[in-house]
Amino acid sequence: MTQAAISVSTANDYATYVNPQWQRLLSVLGMDVAYDRCSGAELFTADGRRIVDFLSGYCVHNTGHNHPEIIAAIKQELDRTGPAMLQSHVPELAGELAARLCERAGGRLSKVFFCSSGSEGVETAIKFARAKTGRAGLLYNQGAFHGLTCGALSMMGDPFWRGNFGPMLPGTQAIPFADIDALEKQLATHQFAAFFMEPIQAEGGIRVPTREYMQAAQVLCRKHGTLFVLDEVQTGMYRTGPFLAAHHFDVEPDMVVLAKALSGGLIPVGAVLMSDAVYKSVFDSLRNSIIHASTFSENSISMRAGLATLEVLDRYRLGERAAHSGENLRLRLRSALSGYEMVQEVRGAGLLSGIVFAPPRQLKLRLPFEAFRKIHPGMFGQVLVMRMFRDHGFLTQMCGNNFMVLKVAPPLVVTSEQIDAFVTAIHRVVGVAHTSNAFWSEAIGLARRAINL
Ligand SMILES: Cc1ncc(COP(=O)(O)O)c(C=O)c1O
Repeated sequence: MTQAAISVSTANDYATYVNPQWQRLLSVLGMDVAYDRCSGAELFTADGRRIVDFLSGYCVHNTGHNHPEIIAAIKQELDRTGPAMLQSHVPELAGELAARLCERAGGRLSKVFFCSSGSEGVETAIKFARAKTGRAGLLYNQGAFHGLTCGALSMMGDPFWRGNFGPMLPGTQAIPFADIDALEKQLATHQFAAFFMEPIQAEGGIRVPTREYMQAAQVLCRKHGTLFVLDEVQTGMYRTGPFLAAHHFDVEPDMVVLAKALSGGLIPVGAVLMSDAVYKSVFDSLRNSIIHASTFSENSISMRAGLATLEVLDRYRLGERAAHSGENLRLRLRSALSGYEMVQEVRGAGLLSGIVFAPPRQLKLRLPFEAFRKIHPGMFGQVLVMRMFRDHGFLTQMCGNNFMVLKVAPPLVVTSEQIDAFVTAIHRVVGVAHTSNAFWSEAIGLARRAINL
Protein backbone atom coordinates (compact mmCIF):
# COMPACT_ATOMS: atom_id res chain seq x y z
CA MET A 1 0.00 0.00 0.00
CA THR A 2 1.26 3.51 -0.79
CA GLN A 3 1.65 6.13 1.96
CA ALA A 4 -1.41 8.00 0.65
CA ALA A 5 -3.48 4.81 0.60
CA ILE A 6 -2.40 3.99 4.16
CA SER A 7 -3.41 7.39 5.43
CA VAL A 8 -6.83 7.17 3.73
CA SER A 9 -7.41 3.72 5.17
CA THR A 10 -6.33 4.66 8.71
CA ALA A 11 -8.56 7.74 8.55
CA ASN A 12 -11.45 5.46 7.54
CA ASP A 13 -10.66 3.14 10.44
CA TYR A 14 -10.77 6.13 12.77
CA ALA A 15 -14.20 7.09 11.49
CA THR A 16 -15.41 3.49 11.65
CA TYR A 17 -14.02 2.46 15.00
CA VAL A 18 -13.27 5.58 17.05
CA ASN A 19 -15.15 8.85 16.57
CA PRO A 20 -16.84 9.57 13.25
CA GLN A 21 -18.39 12.80 14.55
CA TRP A 22 -14.99 14.29 15.37
CA GLN A 23 -13.76 13.47 11.91
CA ARG A 24 -16.85 15.08 10.38
CA LEU A 25 -16.33 18.25 12.41
CA LEU A 26 -12.70 18.57 11.31
CA SER A 27 -13.75 17.98 7.74
CA VAL A 28 -16.41 20.75 7.93
CA LEU A 29 -13.73 23.12 9.20
CA GLY A 30 -11.23 22.03 6.52
CA MET A 31 -8.86 20.92 9.27
CA ASP A 32 -8.82 17.15 8.72
CA VAL A 33 -5.29 17.15 7.37
CA ALA A 34 -2.70 14.43 7.98
CA TYR A 35 0.45 15.57 9.77
CA ASP A 36 3.79 14.00 8.90
CA ARG A 37 6.07 15.72 11.37
CA CYS A 38 5.80 18.20 14.23
CA SER A 39 8.72 20.11 15.67
CA GLY A 40 8.91 23.17 17.95
CA ALA A 41 5.93 25.32 17.03
CA GLU A 42 5.68 23.90 13.51
CA LEU A 43 3.48 21.18 12.08
CA PHE A 44 4.23 19.74 8.62
CA THR A 45 1.31 18.22 6.74
CA ALA A 46 1.43 15.21 4.42
CA ASP A 47 0.51 17.48 1.48
CA GLY A 48 3.47 19.75 2.07
CA ARG A 49 2.01 22.62 4.12
CA ARG A 50 3.62 24.20 7.15
CA ILE A 51 1.23 25.13 9.96
CA VAL A 52 2.33 27.15 12.99
CA ASP A 53 0.74 25.95 16.22
CA PHE A 54 -0.80 28.75 18.32
CA LEU A 55 -2.91 26.33 20.38
CA SER A 56 -0.28 23.95 21.83
CA GLY A 57 -2.83 21.15 22.25
CA TYR A 58 -4.53 23.30 24.92
CA CYS A 59 -1.26 24.07 26.69
CA VAL A 60 0.35 20.64 26.42
CA HIS A 61 3.28 21.66 24.22
CA ASN A 62 5.04 24.25 26.37
CA THR A 63 8.44 22.83 25.37
CA GLY A 64 7.41 22.62 21.70
CA HIS A 65 6.49 19.51 19.76
CA ASN A 66 8.78 16.51 20.06
CA HIS A 67 11.59 18.22 21.92
CA PRO A 68 14.70 16.15 21.03
CA GLU A 69 16.10 16.23 24.58
CA ILE A 70 12.84 14.92 26.06
CA ILE A 71 12.63 12.23 23.38
CA ALA A 72 16.23 11.19 24.12
CA ALA A 73 15.49 10.95 27.87
CA ILE A 74 12.41 8.78 27.24
CA LYS A 75 14.37 6.53 24.87
CA GLN A 76 17.13 6.16 27.45
CA GLU A 77 14.60 5.20 30.10
CA LEU A 78 13.11 2.56 27.80
CA ASP A 79 16.58 1.20 26.97
CA ARG A 80 17.42 0.93 30.66
CA THR A 81 14.81 -1.85 30.96
CA GLY A 82 14.29 -0.88 34.59
CA PRO A 83 11.25 -1.58 36.75
CA ALA A 84 8.05 -0.32 35.16
CA MET A 85 4.55 -0.94 36.54
CA LEU A 86 6.00 -3.29 39.12
CA GLN A 87 3.57 -1.92 41.70
CA SER A 88 5.71 -3.45 44.45
CA HIS A 89 8.75 -1.21 44.72
CA VAL A 90 9.72 2.35 45.56
CA PRO A 91 9.82 4.29 42.27
CA GLU A 92 12.81 6.60 42.85
CA LEU A 93 12.13 8.71 39.78
CA ALA A 94 8.75 9.71 41.23
CA GLY A 95 10.56 10.93 44.35
CA GLU A 96 13.00 12.92 42.24
CA LEU A 97 10.28 14.53 40.11
CA ALA A 98 8.12 15.29 43.17
CA ALA A 99 11.08 17.03 44.85
CA ARG A 100 11.74 19.16 41.74
CA LEU A 101 8.06 20.13 41.51
CA CYS A 102 7.75 21.05 45.21
CA GLU A 103 10.99 23.13 45.09
CA ARG A 104 9.54 25.16 42.23
CA ALA A 105 6.01 25.43 43.63
CA GLY A 106 7.11 26.56 47.11
CA GLY A 107 4.69 27.64 49.82
CA ARG A 108 3.00 24.82 51.69
CA LEU A 109 3.19 22.36 48.79
CA SER A 110 5.42 19.54 49.97
CA LYS A 111 3.90 16.24 48.83
CA VAL A 112 2.84 14.98 45.41
CA PHE A 113 0.34 12.42 44.19
CA PHE A 114 1.00 11.40 40.57
CA CYS A 115 -1.71 10.35 38.14
CA SER A 116 -2.26 10.25 34.40
CA SER A 117 -4.45 13.23 33.48
CA GLY A 118 -5.80 16.56 34.61
CA SER A 119 -9.24 15.12 35.38
CA GLU A 120 -7.71 12.37 37.48
CA GLY A 121 -5.79 15.05 39.37
CA VAL A 122 -9.00 16.97 40.02
CA GLU A 123 -10.71 13.77 41.23
CA THR A 124 -7.79 13.23 43.59
CA ALA A 125 -8.02 16.78 44.93
CA ILE A 126 -11.78 16.31 45.54
CA LYS A 127 -11.18 13.14 47.57
CA PHE A 128 -8.29 14.62 49.55
CA ALA A 129 -10.21 17.83 50.31
CA ARG A 130 -13.14 15.80 51.61
CA ALA A 131 -10.85 13.66 53.75
CA LYS A 132 -9.06 16.70 55.19
CA THR A 133 -12.15 18.72 56.05
CA GLY A 134 -14.81 16.07 56.68
CA ARG A 135 -17.08 18.16 54.44
CA ALA A 136 -18.60 17.07 51.12
CA GLY A 137 -19.43 20.33 49.32
CA LEU A 138 -17.36 21.81 46.48
CA LEU A 139 -17.28 25.44 45.36
CA TYR A 140 -16.26 26.39 41.84
CA ASN A 141 -16.39 29.29 39.41
CA GLN A 142 -18.86 29.86 36.62
CA GLY A 143 -17.11 29.23 33.30
CA ALA A 144 -14.61 26.79 34.83
CA PHE A 145 -13.19 23.81 32.97
CA HIS A 146 -11.92 21.11 35.34
CA GLY A 147 -12.26 17.94 33.22
CA LEU A 148 -14.87 15.51 32.01
CA THR A 149 -14.83 12.71 34.60
CA CYS A 150 -17.90 12.75 36.86
CA GLY A 151 -16.37 14.57 39.85
CA ALA A 152 -14.58 17.19 37.75
CA LEU A 153 -17.63 17.63 35.54
CA SER A 154 -19.72 18.29 38.65
CA MET A 155 -17.68 21.49 38.98
CA MET A 156 -18.53 22.70 35.48
CA GLY A 157 -21.88 24.43 35.20
CA ASP A 158 -22.25 24.57 31.41
CA PRO A 159 -25.16 22.24 30.48
CA PHE A 160 -23.38 21.43 27.21
CA TRP A 161 -20.67 19.41 28.98
CA ARG A 162 -23.12 17.80 31.42
CA GLY A 163 -25.06 16.43 28.41
CA ASN A 164 -27.23 13.44 29.20
CA PHE A 165 -24.81 11.96 31.71
CA GLY A 166 -27.25 11.94 34.61
CA PRO A 167 -26.89 13.35 38.11
CA MET A 168 -23.58 14.85 39.12
CA LEU A 169 -21.99 14.96 42.60
CA PRO A 170 -24.34 16.55 45.14
CA GLY A 171 -23.31 19.62 47.13
CA THR A 172 -21.50 21.53 44.40
CA GLN A 173 -22.04 25.27 44.02
CA ALA A 174 -21.01 27.70 41.28
CA ILE A 175 -20.16 31.32 42.03
CA PRO A 176 -19.37 34.20 39.66
CA PHE A 177 -15.69 34.42 38.72
CA ALA A 178 -13.63 36.73 40.94
CA ASP A 179 -16.63 37.87 43.01
CA ILE A 180 -15.39 38.06 46.58
CA ASP A 181 -18.80 38.71 48.15
CA ALA A 182 -20.31 35.64 46.49
CA LEU A 183 -17.35 33.59 47.69
CA GLU A 184 -17.63 34.80 51.27
CA LYS A 185 -21.37 34.15 51.37
CA GLN A 186 -20.89 30.52 50.33
CA LEU A 187 -17.83 29.90 52.50
CA ALA A 188 -19.74 31.13 55.55
CA THR A 189 -22.11 28.14 55.25
CA HIS A 190 -19.19 25.87 56.21
CA GLN A 191 -20.45 23.23 53.77
CA PHE A 192 -17.49 23.28 51.44
CA ALA A 193 -14.41 21.08 51.51
CA ALA A 194 -12.66 23.08 48.80
CA PHE A 195 -12.86 26.08 46.54
CA PHE A 196 -11.53 25.01 43.13
CA MET A 197 -10.25 27.74 40.86
CA GLU A 198 -8.17 28.10 37.70
CA PRO A 199 -5.95 31.05 38.66
CA ILE A 200 -6.40 32.28 35.10
CA GLN A 201 -9.55 30.84 33.62
CA ALA A 202 -8.52 29.29 30.32
CA GLU A 203 -11.55 27.81 28.53
CA GLY A 204 -13.75 30.39 30.27
CA GLY A 205 -12.11 33.10 28.14
CA ILE A 206 -8.59 33.81 29.53
CA ARG A 207 -10.02 35.65 32.54
CA VAL A 208 -7.39 37.03 34.88
CA PRO A 209 -8.44 37.83 38.46
CA THR A 210 -6.83 40.63 40.43
CA ARG A 211 -4.10 40.01 42.96
CA GLU A 212 -6.40 41.50 45.62
CA TYR A 213 -9.13 38.99 44.80
CA MET A 214 -6.76 36.02 44.94
CA GLN A 215 -5.27 37.04 48.25
CA ALA A 216 -8.65 37.80 49.79
CA ALA A 217 -10.02 34.46 48.51
CA GLN A 218 -7.16 32.64 50.21
CA VAL A 219 -7.71 34.48 53.51
CA LEU A 220 -11.44 33.72 53.43
CA CYS A 221 -10.89 30.04 52.60
CA ARG A 222 -8.54 29.71 55.59
CA LYS A 223 -10.95 31.58 57.87
CA HIS A 224 -13.84 29.27 56.99
CA GLY A 225 -11.87 26.00 56.89
CA THR A 226 -12.24 25.44 53.13
CA LEU A 227 -9.19 24.30 51.14
CA PHE A 228 -7.96 26.64 48.41
CA VAL A 229 -7.27 24.42 45.38
CA LEU A 230 -5.76 25.79 42.19
CA ASP A 231 -6.27 23.91 38.94
CA GLU A 232 -3.09 24.80 37.04
CA VAL A 233 -3.54 22.13 34.38
CA GLN A 234 -3.27 24.81 31.66
CA THR A 235 -1.57 27.65 33.54
CA GLY A 236 1.23 25.68 35.24
CA MET A 237 4.66 24.67 33.93
CA TYR A 238 5.72 28.26 33.12
CA ARG A 239 2.89 28.84 30.63
CA THR A 240 2.18 32.30 32.09
CA GLY A 241 5.79 33.18 33.01
CA PRO A 242 6.37 31.85 36.55
CA PHE A 243 6.25 28.09 37.27
CA LEU A 244 2.69 28.46 38.59
CA ALA A 245 0.21 31.23 37.81
CA ALA A 246 -0.31 31.28 41.62
CA HIS A 247 3.08 33.00 41.79
CA HIS A 248 1.70 36.09 40.01
CA PHE A 249 -0.61 36.60 42.96
CA ASP A 250 1.67 35.50 45.84
CA VAL A 251 -0.85 32.96 47.08
CA GLU A 252 -0.12 29.66 48.81
CA PRO A 253 -2.79 27.14 47.84
CA ASP A 254 -3.42 23.94 49.80
CA MET A 255 -3.35 21.91 46.59
CA VAL A 256 -2.33 22.50 42.98
CA VAL A 257 -3.25 20.24 40.06
CA LEU A 258 -0.77 19.94 37.18
CA ALA A 259 -0.95 17.81 34.00
CA LYS A 260 -0.73 18.59 30.26
CA ALA A 261 2.75 20.13 29.74
CA LEU A 262 4.36 18.21 32.62
CA SER A 263 5.73 15.47 30.37
CA GLY A 264 6.64 17.48 27.30
CA GLY A 265 3.45 16.61 25.44
CA LEU A 266 4.66 13.07 24.85
CA ILE A 267 3.12 10.83 27.48
CA PRO A 268 0.15 11.10 29.87
CA VAL A 269 0.87 12.43 33.33
CA GLY A 270 -0.74 14.45 36.10
CA ALA A 271 0.33 15.57 39.56
CA VAL A 272 -1.43 16.92 42.62
CA LEU A 273 0.84 19.00 44.80
CA MET A 274 -0.42 19.37 48.36
CA SER A 275 0.48 20.40 51.88
CA ASP A 276 1.66 17.85 54.41
CA ALA A 277 -1.55 18.33 56.38
CA VAL A 278 -3.70 17.40 53.37
CA TYR A 279 -1.50 14.41 52.52
CA LYS A 280 -1.67 13.09 56.09
CA SER A 281 -5.43 13.21 56.14
CA VAL A 282 -5.43 10.40 53.53
CA PHE A 283 -2.14 8.51 53.90
CA ASP A 284 -2.29 8.39 57.68
CA SER A 285 -1.25 4.81 58.43
CA LEU A 286 0.35 1.69 56.94
CA ARG A 287 -3.12 0.35 56.40
CA ASN A 288 -3.98 3.37 54.26
CA SER A 289 -0.69 3.53 52.35
CA ILE A 290 -2.39 2.73 49.04
CA ILE A 291 -5.92 3.86 49.83
CA HIS A 292 -5.70 6.23 46.89
CA ALA A 293 -3.66 4.88 43.95
CA SER A 294 -3.67 4.45 40.21
CA THR A 295 -1.92 1.80 38.05
CA PHE A 296 -0.03 4.15 35.75
CA SER A 297 0.78 6.72 38.44
CA GLU A 298 4.55 7.08 39.10
CA ASN A 299 5.41 5.03 35.97
CA SER A 300 9.05 5.48 35.07
CA ILE A 301 8.51 6.75 31.52
CA SER A 302 6.21 9.60 32.60
CA MET A 303 8.47 10.44 35.54
CA ARG A 304 11.57 10.51 33.31
CA ALA A 305 9.70 12.64 30.76
CA GLY A 306 8.67 15.03 33.58
CA LEU A 307 12.26 15.41 34.78
CA ALA A 308 13.54 15.98 31.24
CA THR A 309 10.77 18.52 30.62
CA LEU A 310 11.77 20.54 33.70
CA GLU A 311 15.40 20.48 32.53
CA VAL A 312 14.43 21.79 29.10
CA LEU A 313 12.21 24.49 30.63
CA ASP A 314 15.16 25.57 32.81
CA ARG A 315 17.95 25.29 30.25
CA TYR A 316 16.16 27.43 27.67
CA ARG A 317 14.61 29.76 30.29
CA LEU A 318 11.21 29.16 28.78
CA GLY A 319 9.35 30.82 31.67
CA GLU A 320 11.22 34.09 31.14
CA ARG A 321 10.68 33.69 27.44
CA ALA A 322 6.93 33.15 27.96
CA ALA A 323 6.69 36.32 30.07
CA HIS A 324 8.62 38.41 27.61
CA SER A 325 7.19 37.09 24.32
CA GLY A 326 3.67 37.09 25.77
CA GLU A 327 3.88 40.74 26.77
CA ASN A 328 5.23 41.62 23.34
CA LEU A 329 2.53 39.57 21.60
CA ARG A 330 -0.31 41.29 23.51
CA LEU A 331 1.15 44.75 22.81
CA ARG A 332 1.40 43.94 19.12
CA LEU A 333 -2.11 42.48 18.99
CA ARG A 334 -3.60 45.49 20.80
CA SER A 335 -1.98 47.87 18.40
CA ALA A 336 -2.91 45.87 15.27
CA LEU A 337 -6.54 45.24 16.31
CA SER A 338 -7.42 48.46 18.11
CA GLY A 339 -9.41 50.00 15.24
CA TYR A 340 -11.87 47.12 14.90
CA GLU A 341 -15.24 47.43 16.59
CA MET A 342 -15.63 43.69 17.14
CA VAL A 343 -12.36 43.46 19.09
CA GLN A 344 -13.13 44.33 22.68
CA GLU A 345 -9.90 43.47 24.45
CA VAL A 346 -6.65 41.50 24.32
CA ARG A 347 -5.80 39.99 27.71
CA GLY A 348 -3.75 37.31 29.40
CA ALA A 349 -0.44 36.55 31.05
CA GLY A 350 2.73 35.04 29.63
CA LEU A 351 1.91 33.01 26.57
CA LEU A 352 -1.74 32.47 27.50
CA SER A 353 -3.66 35.26 25.81
CA GLY A 354 -7.18 35.81 24.57
CA ILE A 355 -8.54 38.08 21.87
CA VAL A 356 -12.00 39.00 23.13
CA PHE A 357 -14.59 39.68 20.42
CA ALA A 358 -17.89 41.51 20.91
CA PRO A 359 -21.03 41.58 18.74
CA PRO A 360 -20.76 44.36 16.13
CA ARG A 361 -22.75 47.59 16.50
CA GLN A 362 -22.99 48.58 12.81
CA LEU A 363 -26.19 47.22 11.29
CA LYS A 364 -24.45 45.80 8.21
CA LEU A 365 -22.29 43.57 10.41
CA ARG A 366 -24.80 43.01 13.15
CA LEU A 367 -27.41 41.39 10.89
CA PRO A 368 -25.20 38.56 9.61
CA PHE A 369 -23.54 38.18 13.02
CA GLU A 370 -26.88 37.64 14.76
CA ALA A 371 -28.18 35.37 11.99
CA PHE A 372 -25.16 33.09 12.35
CA ARG A 373 -25.24 33.20 16.11
CA LYS A 374 -28.78 31.80 15.92
CA ILE A 375 -27.56 28.84 13.85
CA HIS A 376 -24.74 28.15 16.31
CA PRO A 377 -23.19 30.48 18.92
CA GLY A 378 -19.72 29.29 17.89
CA MET A 379 -20.10 30.02 14.17
CA PHE A 380 -18.34 33.41 14.09
CA GLY A 381 -15.34 32.05 15.96
CA GLN A 382 -15.08 28.94 13.84
CA VAL A 383 -14.89 31.01 10.66
CA LEU A 384 -12.00 32.93 12.23
CA VAL A 385 -10.28 29.67 13.15
CA MET A 386 -10.90 28.19 9.72
CA ARG A 387 -9.50 31.23 7.92
CA MET A 388 -6.44 31.38 10.16
CA PHE A 389 -5.77 27.74 9.31
CA ARG A 390 -6.59 27.67 5.62
CA ASP A 391 -5.45 31.10 4.48
CA HIS A 392 -2.55 31.77 6.83
CA GLY A 393 -1.34 28.41 8.17
CA PHE A 394 -2.02 29.00 11.89
CA LEU A 395 -3.66 26.47 14.19
CA THR A 396 -5.86 28.24 16.77
CA GLN A 397 -9.11 27.64 18.63
CA MET A 398 -11.83 29.55 20.42
CA CYS A 399 -12.10 29.02 24.19
CA GLY A 400 -14.23 25.95 24.97
CA ASN A 401 -16.59 27.76 27.35
CA ASN A 402 -16.52 31.15 25.67
CA PHE A 403 -16.93 31.19 21.89
CA MET A 404 -16.19 34.92 21.66
CA VAL A 405 -12.57 34.59 22.82
CA LEU A 406 -9.82 33.36 20.52
CA LYS A 407 -7.17 31.62 22.57
CA VAL A 408 -3.58 32.51 21.65
CA ALA A 409 -1.24 29.99 23.26
CA PRO A 410 1.77 28.98 21.15
CA PRO A 411 4.52 26.70 22.51
CA LEU A 412 6.89 28.68 24.75
CA VAL A 413 9.63 28.16 22.13
CA VAL A 414 7.72 30.31 19.62
CA THR A 415 10.03 32.69 17.73
CA SER A 416 9.58 36.43 17.26
CA GLU A 417 9.18 35.83 13.50
CA GLN A 418 6.33 33.41 14.16
CA ILE A 419 4.72 35.99 16.47
CA ASP A 420 5.08 38.69 13.80
CA ALA A 421 3.49 36.43 11.19
CA PHE A 422 0.62 35.58 13.58
CA VAL A 423 -0.13 39.26 14.24
CA THR A 424 -0.17 39.98 10.50
CA ALA A 425 -2.45 36.99 9.86
CA ILE A 426 -5.03 37.76 12.57
CA HIS A 427 -5.01 41.41 11.54
CA ARG A 428 -5.94 40.36 8.00
CA VAL A 429 -8.65 37.91 9.11
CA VAL A 430 -10.23 40.41 11.51
CA GLY A 431 -10.02 43.03 8.75
CA VAL A 432 -11.90 40.71 6.36
CA ALA A 433 -14.58 40.07 9.03
CA HIS A 434 -15.17 43.83 9.27
CA THR A 435 -15.10 44.71 5.60
CA SER A 436 -15.95 41.81 3.35
CA ASN A 437 -19.13 39.88 2.67
CA ALA A 438 -16.90 36.92 1.88
CA PHE A 439 -16.35 36.33 5.58
CA TRP A 440 -20.06 36.00 6.23
CA SER A 441 -20.80 33.96 3.11
CA GLU A 442 -18.12 31.61 4.34
CA ALA A 443 -20.19 31.13 7.48
CA ILE A 444 -23.20 30.15 5.32
CA GLY A 445 -21.00 27.61 3.54
CA LEU A 446 -19.87 26.27 6.90
CA ALA A 447 -23.45 25.90 8.11
CA ARG A 448 -24.43 24.13 4.87
CA ARG A 449 -21.52 21.73 5.08
CA ALA A 450 -22.37 20.96 8.69
CA ILE A 451 -25.97 20.16 7.74
CA ASN A 452 -25.18 18.15 4.60
CA LEU A 453 -22.36 15.97 5.89
C1 LIG B 1 -7.97 23.74 33.55
C2 LIG B 1 -8.18 22.29 33.21
N1 LIG B 1 -8.32 21.41 34.21
C3 LIG B 1 -8.49 20.10 33.97
C4 LIG B 1 -8.53 19.62 32.68
C5 LIG B 1 -8.72 18.15 32.42
O1 LIG B 1 -7.52 17.60 31.98
P1 LIG B 1 -7.48 16.22 31.17
O2 LIG B 1 -8.08 16.46 29.84
O3 LIG B 1 -6.03 15.85 31.12
O4 LIG B 1 -8.26 15.23 31.96
C6 LIG B 1 -8.40 20.50 31.61
C7 LIG B 1 -8.44 20.03 30.22
O5 LIG B 1 -8.43 20.74 29.27
C8 LIG B 1 -8.22 21.88 31.89
O6 LIG B 1 -8.09 22.78 30.90
